Order: sequence, then C-alpha cells, then structure tokens
Amino acid sequence: MVSIKTDDDIIKMRESGKIAAETLVMIEKHIEPGITTIELNRLCHEFILSKGCYPSPYNYKGFPKSICSSVNEVICHGIPSSKHKLRNGDIVNIDITVYKGDFTIDDINRHLKEKKSTDYFPYFYKGFHGDTNRTYLVGKVEPEVKRLVDVTYEAMMKGIQVVKPGAKLGDIGHAIQTHAESNNFSVVRDFTGHGIGRGFHEEPTVLHYGKEGTGMTLKKGMTFTIEPMINIGTHRMKILKDGWTAVTTDGSLSAQFEHTLVVTDDGFEILTLA
Ligand code: MF3
Ligand code: CO
Ligand code: CO
Repeated sequence: MVSIKTDDDIIKMRESGKIAAETLVMIEKHIEPGITTIELNRLCHEFILSKGCYPSPYNYKGFPKSICSSVNEVICHGIPSSKHKLRNGDIVNIDITVYKGDFTIDDINRHLKEKKSTDYFPYFYKGFHGDTNRTYLVGKVEPEVKRLVDVTYEAMMKGIQVVKPGAKLGDIGHAIQTHAESNNFSVVRDFTGHGIGRGFHEEPTVLHYGKEGTGMTLKKGMTFTIEPMINIGTHRMKILKDGWTAVTTDGSLSAQFEHTLVVTDDGFEILTLA
C-alpha cells in the first residue's frame, strides 16, 4: 500500500529532509585526501544528533553505523571504517537519512543504552525520515570519472523532472536509463528508489530503468526517493562478506545521487534541500 501524506505530514518531512541535506553540506568541507570514512561517520552522527534527529541507518536491519560511505567501485551501503582512508582521485558517496519526531537527544541516548541493539529507535516514535545522498570528488579526479558523476546527477534530475500527478513510475526509470545509457554508462538494477515517510523504506519501489507509460500512476501526496546508481562498466553487483557493501563485479566505478520528493498538484517538490 502506498501511503498518501497530508499537508501536515509534508511540513514534517520538509524538516527531516532539510536536516539530511544540511548534513551533506556540512560534510563537504571535510572530504579530502587522508580523512577516514569512520571520521566522516562521526562528524555526521554528531551533527544529526545536534539537530535533535536520529541517524536512520544506525541499527536499521543491523547496519552498524550512522551513514553509508561508498568509495569508487562501491555501489552503495559502504560501512564507514577506520581502515578506509580517502585518496586523491577517489569518488565517495555519502548517504544520509535522518529521522525527526517528537523526541529529544536524551530519548535517543536512553534508548541506545537501555534497549537491545535489535530494537530500532524509529519503531518507537511517530516521526518521519528524510533520505538524500551525493557523490563527492576527492582532490583531483580523472575527466572520465568527473563525467560519470556529472551524468549521474543529471540522470537523477531528469528522473525527478517527469514527476507529476498522472505520470507513471516507468516514466522516471525511462528518463534515467535513457540519459545514462546514451552516455555509455550502465544503470544498477539491484537497488531502487523507495517510498519513504514514517518508514525508512515504504512502497512503491522506484526502478531507475524501464519503459514510458508503464507501472504505477503517481498521485498527489506520494513521497519517494529517486536515487540512481550509475556505473562506468557492468551494471552487475555483488555483496562483500560484511553482508552490506555492494560493489561492481568488474571493479568499475559507480556514482549515485538521491533526493526525497513529494508529488504536488502540478509536479513535484524536492524535500531534501538545504
Ligand atoms: N539510505 C539508503 C537508501 O537510500 C539506505 C541505507 S540502508 C542502511 O535507501 F541500512 F544501509 F543504512
Ligand atoms: Co533511499
Ligand atoms: Co539514502
């Protein structure tokens, strides 16, 4: 079932979305050769808590950290680590999801101390998630790598721009796939955009490839993410032994951008703007 959000829900989702977006702005100045991804995780975690929000990835289905940090051939769900130091020429995606609701930092801290780690904090409150990511360039990157990142951003925006009541989910996928493939890149099939709201991942599933005029019809008040992962080589992926990190099977680079949006009367509104 796809939930339709009320105007009041959207006011709250704008707040979550804004804090997620501000986290990406905050972390940008720290993205440079030598920093570890665990340090990026720490900075984002502190920032999100300072805004009274919970970092949604933390404990979500057992994910161990507060952000996803995905370097080079990592497609998504990279786990921040003290062993991963950024190097000149890398690309790194930082994926931020925050949960805002009627609770305080004390509630979060008490929950994390008292509850079993399997209890996911957002299950106990009636807040909303906001989900957004960006791929950053580390130092000076090769022109072909910069082209991948630029085309991935454009592909996300082309997907967003078709969103309006009456449009089909397949229109989004088609716009993204057409732009990526006409630039000789490939679209990851195994991860998708998703509905979002009181739940981190809700219906519908938003494919980043597909045919125009197919799939569910968009209606005012639907909220979902568009988050294409675009690769230089094969679209195929495998999961590393940590159970989370998704990498390209050929080791080729992968980029991603993500926004959370709502379908409005005559189009869309991006909810994850700083
Ligand atoms: N933020 C990711 C998304 O865009 C999901 C991360 S799930 C996690 O859907 F468990 F890895 F955090
Ligand atoms: Co998402
Ligand atoms: Co995300």
